[in-house]
Amino acid sequence: MPSSTRSQTPKQAEANQPAKLIDLQPATSLHVSEVLQGLQRSPKELPPKLFYDEVGSQLFNQICDLDEYYLTRTETGMMWECIDEITSLLSSKRLLIEYGSGSSTKTKILLDHLPRLTHYMPIDISQEHLLQSAHTIAANYPHLTVTPVYADYTTNLAIPFSAKMSAPKMPRLVYFPGSTIGNFHKDEALVFLKQVRDICGDGGGFLVGVDLVKDTDTLNAAYNDSQGVTAAFNLNLLTRLNRDVGADFQPTQFEHKAFYNEERSRIEMHLVSKKKQIVHLADQAITFEEGESIWTESSYKYTLQAFEKLITTAGFHPIKVWVDDQQLFSIHYLQT
Ligand code: AVI
Repeated sequence: MPSSTRSQTPKQAEANQPAKLIDLQPATSLHVSEVLQGLQRSPKELPPKLFYDEVGSQLFNQICDLDEYYLTRTETGMMWECIDEITSLLSSKRLLIEYGSGSSTKTKILLDHLPRLTHYMPIDISQEHLLQSAHTIAANYPHLTVTPVYADYTTNLAIPFSAKMSAPKMPRLVYFPGSTIGNFHKDEALVFLKQVRDICGDGGGFLVGVDLVKDTDTLNAAYNDSQGVTAAFNLNLLTRLNRDVGADFQPTQFEHKAFYNEERSRIEMHLVSKKKQIVHLADQAITFEEGESIWTESSYKYTLQAFEKLITTAGFHPIKVWVDDQQLFSIHYLQT
């Protein structure tokens, strides 16, 4: 049932407020030293988490609506189509923990179909988005205790679960949609998944969306859209570095490049220097040769077998996997 059709008076909806924010103090400010180190490396490289300032987050939302970017609409469509089967497997869970809660569209599908959930814990590095979505969810789901966690989930999370949330009768479900797992290199993904395994605890479940290996043209089109939104998303990183760490990049002198590296099963995104140029940051001069790039993101694509191997190594037991008709995307349900 969509949240808007739940029977509740406006007064009831206002009554449910999120619990106090758990602040795990993520490192949100950009560290000049981290940026400098990345730019002094060969090849030059910056972590994709730097994309998501206010403008970058808005551009990412626009990417999700693009025709070429099949990931979001395919995963959302699958959630609707398979929701009965999905929820029949998850119905014993009471606490839903979401990594990178964002706009929570797919989460609402879960919340609408899991009436026995009592607790929802969204985790996000954007405090503003986190609080906003926690308020909306609390207002629309009066039966839920909503506890927002302000944290960088890519680090080892030490969530102070209350005694109630740690009780054996409170089995946990971790939800990680969007194929964000693909933005980790394979070794990092394993470390991350082992941490998720610990958060799930015994008797826990993990529902994760994973993009699949497919033909190169479809993949390249998804990261080189005709409207240039992905290019703007990539180039916005330079504007952000100018603003937040005082660099003097000329964004017009760089271009977006994204391609599928078949050997490594990953899309690589780069910002390529159009000419030989020097950029300054923290009293350092960084030279770019013509055609030299900053590697800004990897987006790994998995076969079902490769993902199952990874997840099994991390200590999960595969229970069920759903794949859409065109075999573009997969949703995996695992248990601890
Ligand atoms: C967030 N993440 C799963 C996206 C992806 O597809 O790797 C980020 C993105 N980069 C370019 N387009 C979308």
